[in-house]
Amino acid sequence: MKPSVTISPLLTKVLDSARWAPSGDNVQCWRFEITGEHTFVIHGKDTSDHVVYDLEGHASWLAVGCLLEAIDLSAAHEGYEAVFQHIDCELPQEIRIGVELSERPGIAQDPLYSQIIRRCVQRKPMGTTPLSSAEKKAFEQSLPNGFEVIWLEGDRVKQQVAKFMYGNADTRYSMKEGYEVHSKIIDWRPECRRYSPDLIPPLALGLDAINIALTKWSLKSWSRFHFLEKYLAGTVLPRLLMDYRTSIKCSAHFVIVGDKTAKSQWDYHNAGRAVYRFWLTAAQLNLGFQPEQTPVIFSEYIRNGVEFSENPYTNQNADKMDQVFKQLIGEDKVQRSVYMGRVGRSELPTSRSVRKPLTELLL
Ligand SMILES: Cc1cc2nc3c(=O)[nH]c(=O)nc-3n(C[C@H](O)[C@H](O)[C@H](O)COP(=O)(O)O)c2cc1C
Repeated sequence: MKPSVTISPLLTKVLDSARWAPSGDNVQCWRFEITGEHTFVIHGKDTSDHVVYDLEGHASWLAVGCLLEAIDLSAAHEGYEAVFQHIDCELPQEIRIGVELSERPGIAQDPLYSQIIRRCVQRKPMGTTPLSSAEKKAFEQSLPNGFEVIWLEGDRVKQQVAKFMYGNADTRYSMKEGYEVHSKIIDWRPECRRYSPDLIPPLALGLDAINIALTKWSLKSWSRFHFLEKYLAGTVLPRLLMDYRTSIKCSAHFVIVGDKTAKSQWDYHNAGRAVYRFWLTAAQLNLGFQPEQTPVIFSEYIRNGVEFSENPYTNQNADKMDQVFKQLIGEDKVQRSVYMGRVGRSELPTSRSVRKPLTELLL
């Protein structure tokens, strides 16, 4: 923050709450320029230049959508309505959105506001009791118009999803482009094992101490990781633990789909707002929530002709998994899918990503 920045008590409250919005790998791809007592500009930057999961900027656009919803809920809590205005940018990776808060005494309060700081990822195995119809209804009602949820549940279907997740993990682990991301997103600093302000803490990976140590060791270099993966089946155990087992150990998987295929930046922001409301609802229902977003991303790359890996095996595997995804929910729904994940019975995790302080997010 520049020493000269002053921020009103209203914006301090709203932004201090909204900064808890989720972003891929906790990158917090936003900064705030304060332009008045009730106005500010969001300066976003997508990670398409270095994250293989964000090559079209869509993951960052979804995250900014989560942020917009968090701002909306937080402003309403203070008795204000937030109005967002798109600002054109010169550079392709940049995102600019003007925000104006207008006082609205009596504005409707949304109970999801109370979940903003509690909401987080649960990567560990969860309890498997199926969702009740009341719980499903709460999720369905949390989504704005234009979005619906497809549930994948029951032992047989969860087993199919588990195989799909196991196969999909092969796409992630077989490519060097994935390694470049995975090797940088875990916070190995000793003081950040449980809570990391800008990365993912090791204890939030959902692995035991031995597998955390193995992960750290194997991620030291691509040649080591690749050798282990190719000749010693080095990723079989993590895939079984983090992808297969956890896919069985949940109440249900879900796919959020729009009524049309998302295309524009604002389609993704609106999708992000829907996803965030769904995620806050999981917290409200005391359910754990784990994103399973990479199948959606890889299928989108295939649809859009994005070449995301130099490894032919990776591309072939992604093609195969795209077919499996289509068999699971139907081709039309894959095309309209914006987010996939699982929910299950769970206590709040004892390790999680936290956030940069607001002062570091102010320009
Ligand atoms: C658009 C988007 C995609 C994400 N995809 C994944 C994913 O595929 N796997 C995963 O474990 N977490 C995923 N996450 C979760 C982030 O890593 C997580 O939100 C971030 O580290 C902050 O942690 P918190 O949500 O626990 O506060 C995603 C989050 C967003 C917003």
